[in-house]
Amino acid sequence: MKLIVPLTIVTLLLAACGREQEPAAPAEQPAAVDSGAAGKTLAEGKCANCHGLDGKGTGPGIPHLAGQKLAYLKSAMSEYRDGKRPHAALQQLVYQLSEADAANVAAYYASLPRVVPAGATPAAPGDADPLAEGMAAAAACASCHGADGNASTPGMPTLAGQHRGYLIASMQAYKDGVRKDPVMTAQMAGLNSLTIQNLAIYYAAQTPKGRGKPAKGDPAVGEPLSGVCGGCHGLKGQSTNAQTPALAGQDAQFLVKTMKNYRSGTRPHEEMKKQLAGLKDADLEHIAAFYAVQQPVKDQVKPSLTSQEWVSRCDRCHGPGADNPAMVAPYIEGQSSAYLEAALKAYRDGTRPQSAMHAMGMPLTDADITAIAEHYAGMAPR
Ligand code: HEC
Ligand code: HEC
Ligand code: HEC
Ligand code: HEC
Repeated sequence: MKLIVPLTIVTLLLAACGREQEPAAPAEQPAAVDSGAAGKTLAEGKCANCHGLDGKGTGPGIPHLAGQKLAYLKSAMSEYRDGKRPHAALQQLVYQLSEADAANVAAYYASLPRVVPAGATPAAPGDADPLAEGMAAAAACASCHGADGNASTPGMPTLAGQHRGYLIASMQAYKDGVRKDPVMTAQMAGLNSLTIQNLAIYYAAQTPKGRGKPAKGDPAVGEPLSGVCGGCHGLKGQSTNAQTPALAGQDAQFLVKTMKNYRSGTRPHEEMKKQLAGLKDADLEHIAAFYAVQQPVKDQVKPSLTSQEWVSRCDRCHGPGADNPAMVAPYIEGQSSAYLEAALKAYRDGTRPQSAMHAMGMPLTDADITAIAEHYAGMAPR
């Protein structure tokens, strides 16, 4: 490109005298070259350490600025300057810039090509089918949990019909090592939040078959012992709370092992430890037998929206063609996922004030936020 040489000269001159130069480039584009060069110099001196000279955030929590909408960059900077958006270092930095400098550096970053994440999917979000993706991912689990989540090996938990929320939480707990089970931790190691969510959607939607009467334990003796459990796990183990697992029709051997793990603290959960503290091993077997023979029911909890469903809502403002001059929604595809996550939590928790986004972010759980952030972070610019 012909502009490169004059730009470099302008850059050097600017660095020396710190103010705008006469256009040194072809006459047809003087304004663009001028502010672009000034903006580039500023970016190099004040922003590139963090945002890169190519506008690509140099760390996980630093947003990419390359190709962002100019109006959004300007409004973000004035929000920092006015102290509306909290971030001490940026407030300070932007405060020191003149109006013209701020406009120039914003114009420079806005002019750069947008960041295309490695392995990005250009597909429109509407194309994704979480149930089908969950089913595909579940192939890796079938040898232990059964193709449709109805395990047949004693000791293996059934996943079919379990609450989606509980499945997500338990998979995450293995992944993070909170639940110590080397087999499951290894299974979860390579999975991102979106896949975990899709797996949970798939298993929750399957019809549980029940496991039948176990060799040990007497359901009739277990029934009265389970009285205290019903408040949380529901009548006959058919829990109606998304975070409390259904026990009806679950494998008895798995239930006994899990109860012992709670009792000993191997599987950490204060409430469950307390509930099981006074029970003897034989009691646990009777309780497990009682739950194992109950008729399981499919996840009855009204599911929260999937991240795909969220994305279709987000796209009303952030999607291609959603340009509303009155309310500039930034591009978010290809943005750093750590940054998106932090931004969404900040809106939800009210630390980054903005009424439209606060309202959108309100009902999102941390798991929803992680999955949505990963979704957008993996997308190519549209
Ligand atoms: C020390 C590292 C650092 C430097 C230097 C820095 N930034 Fe940032 N910038 C950040 C971080 C971190 C954030 C995210 C802050 C937040 O969550 O609000 C950010 C956010 C922004 C945003 C908001 C982006 C968005 O998507 O909302 C803009 C615009 C921005 N910076 C512009 C600049 C400009 C222009 C400069 C140079 C004058 C600069 N920054 C220098 C770290 C830096
Ligand atoms: C090699 C056998 C094996 C494979 C393969 C396997 N799991 Fe597991 N899974 C287990 C065992 C054993 C447990 C019980 C661990 C414990 O005691 O906490 C378990 C527990 C679980 C639980 C917790 C159930 C509950 O009610 O608490 C979930 C959810 C789960 N697995 C999902 C998966 C998914 C999804 C995959 C595939 C990506 C998978 N598992 C692959 C053996 C396996
Ligand atoms: C105060 C509410 C509450 C009560 C009462 C309660 N539980 Fe739980 N239970 C939970 C929660 C919440 C979990 C999920 C904990 C976790 O994530 O590990 C759980 C988990 C379990 C699990 C693990 C199931 C699985 O799929 O991994 C078993 C088994 C269990 N409870 C049995 C019982 C029994 C038996 C009783 C009565 C003696 C009982 N619980 C009483 C709330 C309760
Ligand atoms: C009604 C329109 C609207 C909807 C719907 C909407 N947003 Fe936004 N979003 C905005 C606006 C306007 C901003 C800029 C706010 C600001 O200046 O802080 C924004 C900012 C953001 C940011 C900050 C980006 C950055 O670079 O700092 C993220 C992340 C974001 N939205 C994600 C989402 C997600 C995810 C959804 C769906 C759950 C969503 N938005 C739905 C209008 C919307």
